Amino acid sequence: MQKRCIIDNYSPQVVSESHYDIVVGYVSSQLPLDELPAGRSELVGSMLRSVSPSGLVFVYGEPDMAPYYSTEIDGQSQVKDFVFKYYIAVRTLPRYGKEGLVESHKALILHTPRDTFKMSKVRIPHSYCRACGQNLRDWGGKKHLMHPAGVALSDVWKDLSVLYDEELPADVLDRISSLSPKETPRILLVRLPREILPSPTIEHAVDTMQVDANRVILGDCIEVMRQLPAGSVDLAFADPPYNLDKAYFSYDDSRHNEEYISWCEQWLFEYQRILKPTGSLFVVNLPKWAVHHKTYLDKYLHFQNWIVWDALSEPRGRLMPAHYTILYYTRHQAEYVFNKEHAIQMSPDFCMRSSCIRTRKKQGISDEVTLSDIWWDIPRIKHKKFRDVHPCQLPEKLMEKIIALCTKPGDIVFDAFCGTGTTALAAKKMGRRYLTIDIDKYYVDLTLNKLELLDKWGIIPRVSTNRERPVVTKKELQLELLRLTNQLGRLPTEADVKSHSKYPLEAYLVAFPSFGKALRAAKVHGQLSQISQELKMRV
Ligand SMILES: C[S@@+](CC[C@H](N)C(=O)[O-])C[C@H]1O[C@@H](n2cnc3c(N)ncnc32)[C@H](O)[C@@H]1O
Repeated sequence: MQKRCIIDNYSPQVVSESHYDIVVGYVSSQLPLDELPAGRSELVGSMLRSVSPSGLVFVYGEPDMAPYYSTEIDGQSQVKDFVFKYYIAVRTLPRYGKEGLVESHKALILHTPRDTFKMSKVRIPHSYCRACGQNLRDWGGKKHLMHPAGVALSDVWKDLSVLYDEELPADVLDRISSLSPKETPRILLVRLPREILPSPTIEHAVDTMQVDANRVILGDCIEVMRQLPAGSVDLAFADPPYNLDKAYFSYDDSRHNEEYISWCEQWLFEYQRILKPTGSLFVVNLPKWAVHHKTYLDKYLHFQNWIVWDALSEPRGRLMPAHYTILYYTRHQAEYVFNKEHAIQMSPDFCMRSSCIRTRKKQGISDEVTLSDIWWDIPRIKHKKFRDVHPCQLPEKLMEKIIALCTKPGDIVFDAFCGTGTTALAAKKMGRRYLTIDIDKYYVDLTLNKLELLDKWGIIPRVSTNRERPVVTKKELQLELLRLTNQLGRLPTEADVKSHSKYPLEAYLVAFPSFGKALRAAKVHGQLSQISQELKMRV
C-alpha cells in the first residue's frame, strides 16, 4: 500500500532538530570525492539530530558498507538513544560477476529509539507454491493462526523486485514509509558516501602448519586456540552463544553489550590467525552482533558475503526477526576452495512439503537455482525428537552445505563452539577431519558419544522421546482465546477466562510463559482489528 509522505533531500540547510519521522541514509557510489558533504561521523550526527525522538533511522546499502554506518549510529547513541533494531535483507535481482555466491540482497538496517519504539504493522500477501499451489509456508497444525490479509512482514523482504545497483529503489522507499505510524510521514533522505575500505593486513604466518585433528577438546576456546599454530585449519566455523540468556549448562549467556563484543573479538582474532592461506571462515550470529564482527574482521580477512540464513521462523511481532547472519570470509582474496557444483539451493518459488518435493521429482520439475547470499531451504530443527538437550543446536544440513561448498576431502574443519557436535559429525560423515572445543563437559561427552556411535553403526540412532501428551493442547487453548475474543468483541482478561472459558486459567499458564504471551500466540489482536473493521463496515 502506497502512503503519502513528504520527502526532503539532505543539505545542511534543511536539517532542523528532530523534525523528521523517518531518516533514510543510502549508500551512494556516485558521490564524487570532492562533493562529499561530510565524513561518516558528521553525516550520522546530522541524521540523528534530524530524526524525531520516536522516529525511525534506516541505512540502505551493500552488505559490506552498511554495517559501518550502523555501528557509527550505535556508537553515537549518546546524541539520541537510537540503537540497532533490525537488519532487513531486501532481496534484489541477482548481481552476477563476482566469483563465489551470487549477491542478491541489499542491507536495510533499522535503528530505533531504545524505549519509545513505534512502527505500523504491515502484512504482505501470502504466496503459493508453483507446483502444488499451496501456501509457500507450511503452516502445518498452525493453520488457524494464518491471517487472511497475509503474513506479518519479516526481516527478509522477498516480495519486492528491485535492482541491486539502484541506490534507493522507489519500492523500498514506499515500504519504509508504510512502516511509520504517521498518516503522512516526513522523510529525510541522506546520500552516504561509499568509502573505499582498507585492505586486510596479514599479520600472521601464511605457511600451512600441521595440527593434530579429530579431537574434541574440553576447555575455554580462547585459551585452547592460543595453543594452536597459525595457518593450520582449512575451514573455521563459529556458532557462538548469541547473548540471549539461553540456558546452557555452564556458560552464562547474558553479558553487557560492550563486554560481549569485546569477548567475541578475542576469539575472532584467534579464528583468523589459525586459518590456512587458502582457508575460509564462517561466523553465525544475530545480525545485531554481526555488524560489529564485520567491521572487526575486515581488518584481517577478505570479505566474501553477508549470508542471510532465512530460517523460516514463525511470524511474531510487528516485524518478525526470521534470519541469522552467516559472515563468509577467506584468507586470500582469490585463492580459496569454492566448489561450484555444490552452489545450488531450492528455488524460493516452491514449497518444502515432502509430498510436493516427491511429486516434483517424479514429474521432472526442476526446482533448483544457483546459490545466492540468501539461504532459505534449511529450516531450524523444529521437532524435539531430532534434537539433543541443548538450547540451540544447528541443523546438520547447514554444516553439510558449508563443508561441501568450501572444503576438500581430508581438510581440517574447526569449530570452537562444539555444542552437540554438529560440525564434527558432519565433517566426519563427509570424509573431512575435525577439531572442536566446548567449555562444557556435558556437550563434549555428548559429542564424543555421538562420534563413537557414528563409527560403530554409520548412523546416530535417535531415540524417540515418548512424552506424555498434555490434556489440552496449545492449539485448543489458542482457538478458545479466539472464540472468547469473538464472543466479547474485546481482548479477554484473566477474569473472563475464569468465568467464560471451557478450560481453567491454569491450563493457559502452564502452556504459555504468561497470559499475555498466550494472547499473543493466539493472534487475538489481529482478530480484534478484523472485528472492528467488520463493525465499521456494518455502520
Ligand atoms: C550456540 S552453541 C553451539 C551449538 C552448536 N553449533 C550445535 O549445533 O550444537 C554455543 C556453544 O558454545 C559453548 N561455549 C560457550 N563459551 C565457550 C567458551 N569460552 N569456550 C568454548 N565453548 C564455549 C557453549 O557451551 C555452547 O555449547
